[in-house]
Amino acid sequence: MELEIYADAAAVGRRAAEIIAEAINTKPDVTLGLATGRTPISTYDALVRLYDSGKVEFSGVTTFNLDEYVSLPSDDPHSYHAYMREHLFQHVNLLPGAAHTPQGDADDLERECAQYEAAIDAAGGIGLQLLGIGRNGHIGFNEPGAGWNLPTHVVELKEGTRRANANFFGGDVARVPTRAISMGILTIMHAHRLLLLATGDTKSAIMQRAIEGAISPDVPASILQLHPDALVLLDTAAASRLHATTTAHALRLAVDAGPAIPRSGEHRSPAT
Ligand code: PGA
Repeated sequence: MELEIYADAAAVGRRAAEIIAEAINTKPDVTLGLATGRTPISTYDALVRLYDSGKVEFSGVTTFNLDEYVSLPSDDPHSYHAYMREHLFQHVNLLPGAAHTPQGDADDLERECAQYEAAIDAAGGIGLQLLGIGRNGHIGFNEPGAGWNLPTHVVELKEGTRRANANFFGGDVARVPTRAISMGILTIMHAHRLLLLATGDTKSAIMQRAIEGAISPDVPASILQLHPDALVLLDTAAASRLHATTTAHALRLAVDAGPAIPRSGEHRSPAT
């Protein structure tokens, strides 16, 4: 696991967008795994700016989103389908049919999960998977206690996760669905590269546990310590509880000087 620390969420977003654009420019038919939530919004904003300025284009790219709420049709404004259209898909030149998000309103949810997993396999697996992290350590909607060995499956959402996401539902937790379809930890760990983003001090405690703590299903993101190519981008607030020996080797931009491009291996060094 490698670690980079930036001044603020906007700088994390610019760096993440730069990494995604570089992955596309290196392999124009790359398969991206995408995430939703508040955290990646600055990444998608920066990625759209890179697209608008001609630095990247998406005509060969395939995408798979991590998750979707059960019961929401894809045209529901609260669905992750709608989120992705709003923040990325409508702004770039992905080909029709190239973007995949689980169908939360499928009649047969088990079959939808199996088909989603099969579609990822048929695309050759995920090249670069973007991840956020819940305050309880979830990745995708793999909540604490989730099995390590699960592919895409239906999950019950924890109360805290529903509360954390209520702001997308007008602040009304009762409107947040109780279940979701999510890629499993197995699906996520099979991605060739992982890019986890965490910003703000509400994520500092869980990042300390995920990066420095024991690898345990109690903190699903801790499994990233075992992935051969996982990069974590934090802002200074989310990194504030990390031990000095962890952050000493991280690329640290205390002042936002715009996106920094470490030459391979020059600034990045293992955090664990
Ligand atoms: P957030 O959600 O970016 O809205 O904090 C992250 C997550 O739950 O994975």
